[in-house]
Amino acid sequence: MTSRTQETIELDARHVAHNYSPLPVVAASAEGVWITDVEGRRYLDCLAAYSAVNFGHRNPEVTATAHAQLDAVTLVSRAFHSDRLAPFCAALAELCGKDMVLPMNSGAEAVESGIKVARKWGTDVKGVRDSNIVVAQNNFHGRTTTIISFSDDETARRGFGPYTPGFRSVPFGDADALARTIDENTVAVLLEPIQGEAGIIVPPDGYLPRVRALCTERNVLMIADEIQSGLARTGRTFACDHWGVVPDIYLLGKALGGGVMPLSAVVADRHILGVLHPGEHGSTFGGNPLAAAIGSTVVAMLARGEFQERSTELGEHLHRRLGNLIGHGVLAVRGKGLWAGVDIDPVHGTGKEVSLRLAERGVLVKDTHGSTLRFAPPLVITADEIDWAVDRFVEVLRG
Ligand SMILES: Cc1ncc(COP(=O)(O)O)c(C=O)c1O
Repeated sequence: MTSRTQETIELDARHVAHNYSPLPVVAASAEGVWITDVEGRRYLDCLAAYSAVNFGHRNPEVTATAHAQLDAVTLVSRAFHSDRLAPFCAALAELCGKDMVLPMNSGAEAVESGIKVARKWGTDVKGVRDSNIVVAQNNFHGRTTTIISFSDDETARRGFGPYTPGFRSVPFGDADALARTIDENTVAVLLEPIQGEAGIIVPPDGYLPRVRALCTERNVLMIADEIQSGLARTGRTFACDHWGVVPDIYLLGKALGGGVMPLSAVVADRHILGVLHPGEHGSTFGGNPLAAAIGSTVVAMLARGEFQERSTELGEHLHRRLGNLIGHGVLAVRGKGLWAGVDIDPVHGTGKEVSLRLAERGVLVKDTHGSTLRFAPPLVITADEIDWAVDRFVEVLRG
């Protein structure tokens, strides 16, 4: 390893908490789908910061908005209004077909906020005292104490107790189990429409429509965590759109901030979000003018539909190319749009080992759950770039 890379990684080991295990690539700049490291080597980014960079690194429309807003106003807190927040919330609400937006920052905050809204709705509207929320097994919704309380990932949970009560977990994709688990104290069903961190798990076709119907029948809020699956990643604005399902609450994050600012949101109708009153919830940075300006640009870009179209068309290409590798080092390929979970035959090594070999060849992917690789490039990728990345993958599998 060359010296600047080595120096940075050693400094990192001394001073950065060891809560990640990054690939030995030190980014110095990035544009579109390409990241350049401190040695001047270029990598094709097939992770897109876990879908936070859906529109490409330093997307010109997003950076132009950010530059302009930096020269206007960046933060006033919610103690005052800004001229950016209301237009952003109005546009995002329209994109979602809902009335209102609660702006937050990280994805985990949006999930926490969604949980609080559902519990408050349960107390104020449904009249439930000891509420519960049903979640899916193998979920990933973030890292706060409450969220890890209903995770099945022992590494994420162990040692962080005591845990927050009030959650019940059922197998993802099993609507009968959900029907049996919902009771009169259930206020919400919280799930990822396609499970991302679990390995891009697409549910059976009838599942989400049945979840929707069950929630309606039992007076339970359906909360869709679209933080990773949403905002054009799967070829639709929301993954739920593939099944014609509209949840009661959308949780959004990652790409909403254009790869520039942390920006997340809870989006719902007034009869749900209206349960929050002054002082009951908040965030100093939530809905700040810089993030809101960027969010408005992102919503305008999504409203044009071109990123959804690119993801659909190029996603077909990506899935065709990866599908051809089944039986040649690949066991299975799942996903929708430019989002693919690839199970590697363990004879080729662990997911981490294959990721390292791919990085040596200039392709950045992230492993998840041992032997699954995730291909989720920025949606501005071209067909040639997809071919280039898959060709490098083929080389790695050939050894
Ligand atoms: C579905 C889902 N929800 C929530 C989160 C948490 O987002 P953040 O890391 O911004 O807190 C993630 C992050 O990967 C996610 O994939």
